[in-house]
Amino acid sequence: MRQIEFPTYKELLKDKRILYYIERADYFLERMGYTVHGLSHVGWVAKKARELLLLTTGDQRLAELAGIAGLLHDIGNIVGRHDHAQSGALLAYQLLKNKGFLDDDLTEITFAIGNHEEGTGEPATEVAAALVVADKSHVHRSRVRSFKTIYEDIHDRVNYAVLHSNLEVDRENKVIRLVLKIDTEISDLLDYFSIFQPRMQMCRRASKVLGYNFRMKVNGKDL
Ligand SMILES: [Fe+2]
Ligand SMILES: [Fe+2]
Repeated sequence: MRQIEFPTYKELLKDKRILYYIERADYFLERMGYTVHGLSHVGWVAKKARELLLLTTGDQRLAELAGIAGLLHDIGNIVGRHDHAQSGALLAYQLLKNKGFLDDDLTEITFAIGNHEEGTGEPATEVAAALVVADKSHVHRSRVRSFKTIYEDIHDRVNYAVLHSNLEVDRENKVIRLVLKIDTEISDLLDYFSIFQPRMQMCRRASKVLGYNFRMKVNGKDL
């Protein structure tokens, strides 16, 4: 296992330029009517992707790379929503290039970010897989910008209905479990799966790369 020779995501959280890009990406998404993708989202994804990789593989270097990929994965939205994974990968490469990253580390991050979206992404590496599972699992009330939109917008309604979300790693049974608490008065499971099924399928594929099965537990019941 190689030594970590680059700044960690927690260190990058102090970088004003990186914070600015994250903020701008979220600003443009807000203008387009999307849920919150700012620091509260990418910070959660960074933390969870790092933890997930560490718990499933024990590889510290890859875990730190997953944290960085988590922090930067949505910056491509400063270019546009469409294909933001690809544009984000290239932007992250540029932002990190002069920070002492070796090419091996830079390319891991670039690949992970470039492959984090369902439809175009193929989470074929551990770093990409951890990023995908963390990102697609971040469904939560705090991501809704305005209570008013929950009646018209199914994404806002489903997010608003999720009171608690967490990822658990069961190492003994090799299961990554997404645990959700959903207020079914606001949104039912049919709503959830009608928009999130492709994402859950991607989580399943990604979990396999980490050597795990992906499962869900909703309101205390295993699905
Ligand atoms: Fe994204
Ligand atoms: Fe994201």
